[in-house]
Amino acid sequence: MAGAIHAHADVAHESKDAPITAVLEPLVNKNIVYAWVFAALFWVIWGPWAGFFTSLKFNFPWLLADQYWTMYGVMRISHTQSVSYGWFSMGTIAMAHYMVPKLCGRPIFKPLFSWIGVACWNVGMIMGIGGFHIGFNQGLEMAEMNWVADLFVATGLVCVLVNLFLTIANRREPKIYVSLWYLMAGFTWTALNYLTGNFLAPLTTGANSAALNGFFLHNVVGLWVTPMGVATAYYLMPVVTRNPLYSHKLSMIGFWALAFFYPFTGAHHYLFSPIPDWVETIAIVSSMMLIVPVWTVLANFWGTMRGRWDLFANTVTMKLLILGAVYYLTTCFQGPTQALRALQPVVHFTDYVVGHAHLALFGVFSLWTMAAFYYIVPKLAGREIYSVGMARATFWLTFFGFLIMALILWIAGIVQGHQLINNVDWPDTLDTNAFYWHLRTVGGFLMDVGMLFFVYNIVATMFWGKPSANPRVV
Ligand code: HEM
Repeated sequence: MAGAIHAHADVAHESKDAPITAVLEPLVNKNIVYAWVFAALFWVIWGPWAGFFTSLKFNFPWLLADQYWTMYGVMRISHTQSVSYGWFSMGTIAMAHYMVPKLCGRPIFKPLFSWIGVACWNVGMIMGIGGFHIGFNQGLEMAEMNWVADLFVATGLVCVLVNLFLTIANRREPKIYVSLWYLMAGFTWTALNYLTGNFLAPLTTGANSAALNGFFLHNVVGLWVTPMGVATAYYLMPVVTRNPLYSHKLSMIGFWALAFFYPFTGAHHYLFSPIPDWVETIAIVSSMMLIVPVWTVLANFWGTMRGRWDLFANTVTMKLLILGAVYYLTTCFQGPTQALRALQPVVHFTDYVVGHAHLALFGVFSLWTMAAFYYIVPKLAGREIYSVGMARATFWLTFFGFLIMALILWIAGIVQGHQLINNVDWPDTLDTNAFYWHLRTVGGFLMDVGMLFFVYNIVATMFWGKPSANPRVV
């Protein structure tokens, strides 16, 4: 497989034992990567704890009930926006600033653009999230931040986009590695999608607004979160295993399948709605077809792992990558089946969907981003990870915490769904759900503690890790 062997600048340029720092590491602008890393770490403290607090509101609705800024509706979006546009987005942008120079053989084109990018993005986030707590909300799912905040985030996005594209255009490597394809596409699609969802959708009404919002919010997942996450994992698999990527061709088939099918899936959020049936049917068929890009990624990962499964047993980084890949398969089985007209009446409007959302955004993409940080921060700092024990604790706490949360939400959703189609009154279904919601809070608490360990471990590695010319993969 000639295409596969070229694989990866890192793998191609480095012998198995050569210290990475000696070869391509100097191309990476450490301060810029650190800036995005720190920002991501800030939001991964705020976001998940806001989620924990939101879950408490289900169990104890009277908790701070007279304080507007802690209302359920406020905390929920504070949580969802911080984890998606804060933690995940900035984490993978940090990773992009690490891998693009290495895959292109060039330093980042204009560091200033990235500094403006990180500043604008974070000012926007603080204005947007802070705005929720004092009453500003656009009222559109995943586009809740006020338009001034959106302008800042969009400016940050465009600055990074321009910088990464110019770096890639000036690359030394003749071929474009698959991660770069995903990054370029993710940024381009998102620049358009972000503007559509935040500036165009608020101008529309009724079914048109619903259709446009469905298009936007599903494309946040499919045309931003997915390409950024998959780019990260496609970079990490070969460098961690020190195997060339199994098949470049397969990765390209997956890429184009994603590009072709994803944009049509949004209307599956609005089955049985006034949106025309044929639009909904196209959304269902496209949702099913998403199995193609997912399987190509999985097949490629498994192929790349050949002879290196010992890493799965021995390193937290590989555990996170593989577990994330298994969750990727699971969530991308759940998603298409949820889109079927036969199943959706049971699970829609229930906690099943919330479980599915966490499986994607936490189970797959947050795990891959955590793996990225465990890999890049020791390399950039030139230090061993501060505490292997703490990294293991993070893995197991988030593993069990998330398992409790996900299983509970799926069970709660199926139970509630059956109650509703059997004409049980909605308020009565909440009595059943109350038990599950308490367990969700327990699971979430374990996850949050695990992530606090993660943040501490990463920051401690930067400052107090044992100096090392070639830090080992934790
Ligand atoms: C990085 C970690 C996390 C990510 C990426 C994440 C992501 C999400 C997403 C995407 C949603 C929207 C779900 C939907 O609309 O279907 C959501 C909602 C929610 N999350 Fe999280 N979450 C994380 C951690 C947590 C934790 C630790 C808790 C603690 C229990 C939590 C509790 C909640 C709650 C209560 C909701 C609202 C559910 C509802 O309104 O019914 N999340 N989260």
